[in-house]
Amino acid sequence: MNPITQELNLQAQPLDVPSAIFQRRSIKTFKPDPIAPELLRQLVELTVAAPSSFNIQDWRIILVQDEAQKVALSEAAWNQKQIIQAPVTFVFAADAMGGEKDLTPIYEQGLQTGAWPEGTVNYFKTAIPQFQSGLGNKRREYAIKDAMIAATHLVLAAESLGLSTCFMNGWIEDKVKAVIGATDDPNLAIAVLVPVGYAAEPRLNPGRLPFSHNVFVDRVGNPYQD
Ligand SMILES: Cc1cc2nc3c(=O)[nH]c(=O)nc-3n(C[C@H](O)[C@H](O)[C@H](O)COP(=O)(O)O)c2cc1C
Repeated sequence: MNPITQELNLQAQPLDVPSAIFQRRSIKTFKPDPIAPELLRQLVELTVAAPSSFNIQDWRIILVQDEAQKVALSEAAWNQKQIIQAPVTFVFAADAMGGEKDLTPIYEQGLQTGAWPEGTVNYFKTAIPQFQSGLGNKRREYAIKDAMIAATHLVLAAESLGLSTCFMNGWIEDKVKAVIGATDDPNLAIAVLVPVGYAAEPRLNPGRLPFSHNVFVDRVGNPYQD
C-alpha cells in the first residue's frame, strides 16, 4: 500500500461495482476509527453524482458528526447504536418543493457543459416547475425517490472504498427534523439515515428469495426463469 493510500485508510484498489454490491451488508456495529476528510469528501462527491429527476438534485444531505448531535440522532432513531458508533451518519432529506425553487445554477451548468442546449433549457424553465407542481401531493414521494438513489450511491461507493454502512428507516421523522434544525420546514421530508464507518462485525448475508418469488417477465405472476 502506498503511504497516501495508507494514510487515507483507502483500499489499495476500490472494489468494482458488482463486487461492492455482493459484498455489502447492513453493518450494525462500527469501530470508532474516523474517516479521513479526503475520503469523506470523495464519498460526498460520489453521492451527489447520483441522477435525479430533471437533475433537480432535490436531496438535502446532512453529515451528522458532532458527538452530541449523534446522541440526539440516535435517540430519534429508537436508540439504534450504529449512529453513535459510526464516525458519521448521512441524513438524506428531500425537499418536496425543490423543483419549484430557483434552478438557475442547474440551467447554467447544463448550458456550460453543453449537455443541455439553449432550447432544452428554455423548455425546462417552463416544463420542470409545471411537472413538479402537477405532482401535487406526490411531490414528497418523488423527492424521496431522488434522495434514495443518492443514498444508494453512497452505500455502494462506501463499500467500494473499504467502508461499511447501514440503511436505516427506524426513526421518528419529527425528531430527526428537530435534530437537523428543520422543524420549521414542512416541505423537508426525511428519506433515510445511513451511518458510515469501519465495520466491527463480520458481513453476514441474510440471503435473498429465489427469483421465482419476486422477479417476473412481462406481467406480475409470470416468473422469470434463468
Ligand atoms: C430502507 C431500509 C431501511 C432499513 N432500516 C434499518 C434500521 O432502521 N435498522 C437496522 O438495523 N437495519 C435497517 N435496515 C437493514 C435491513 O435490515 C437489511 O438491509 C436487510 O436485513 C438485508 O440485509 P443486508 O443489507 O445485509 O443485505 C434497513 C434497510 C433498508 C433497505
